[in-house]
Amino acid sequence: TRWQIDMIYLKTAEEIEIMKGACDLVSRTLGEVARWVAPGVTTLKLDTIAREFILDNGGKPSCLGYQGFPGTLCVEVNETVVHGFPSAYVLQEGDIVGLDCVVELNGYHGDSCYTFAVGEISEATARLLKVTKESLYKGIEAAKAGKRIGDISNAVQTFCERQGYSVVREMCGHGIGKSMHEDPEVPNYGRCGIGPLLKPGMVIAIEPMINLGSKNIVIGGDGWQCRTKDRKPSAHYEHTIAIHENGPEILTTFRYVEEALGITEA
Ligand code: MF3
Ligand code: CO
Repeated sequence: TRWQIDMIYLKTAEEIEIMKGACDLVSRTLGEVARWVAPGVTTLKLDTIAREFILDNGGKPSCLGYQGFPGTLCVEVNETVVHGFPSAYVLQEGDIVGLDCVVELNGYHGDSCYTFAVGEISEATARLLKVTKESLYKGIEAAKAGKRIGDISNAVQTFCERQGYSVVREMCGHGIGKSMHEDPEVPNYGRCGIGPLLKPGMVIAIEPMINLGSKNIVIGGDGWQCRTKDRKPSAHYEHTIAIHENGPEILTTFRYVEEALGITEA
């Protein structure tokens, strides 16, 4: 999606400290929701839990009402790639569900997404989740001051394609700060050494959207809900990170989610 964005705003150290508040709250929100992800639960229920948790903690659900978006969470069941609506759909054993959430706190946004297994899932799908999550960290490792956006893109793409998966082209990561979407766009495919220069003070959301089958997607008639063309599953993980002189700092965390899921390795 080409959001309406204008320029790259570098953040001061003080602003990055403030952004840690929003990033911690969005991380804790996903941790709260994680405890409810199970067969038999509707995605609307998950959305309500997220919204109430954010409001109870003094935050604002950034997606709710954004260009008319109807949820606090973007809900990505199986072949849904991004921007799915919370609904009466009841999660089934074997589903995967990506929950993408943005929170505003103290004037800044934090953005994170985690794709969950609902009960037992197939080995093929479990591997897609594992590789997609790993690709996010490959992208983060490449986010060094002095390198370029294309170095992040290339790290994600080569890692995923080498393992037989495909990278969604139409949807990208993005700068983030006082707005949920700022420049630069952060594609998950591309060549090393191209695109905007990475500078200390940049805060970006990196969010690989990786398909088990082909890279092609279809956007629904509502203009939002986006699925794979071949209806095979798609996975999505996202962190908000800050670029410092001495390397990237991950501002969001999956610690709360993985504690809730009983996964010990962070
Ligand atoms: N988390 C989404 C993103 O990473 C937020 C956009 S969804 C919208 O860009 F509903 F808010 F538009
Ligand atoms: Co995002």
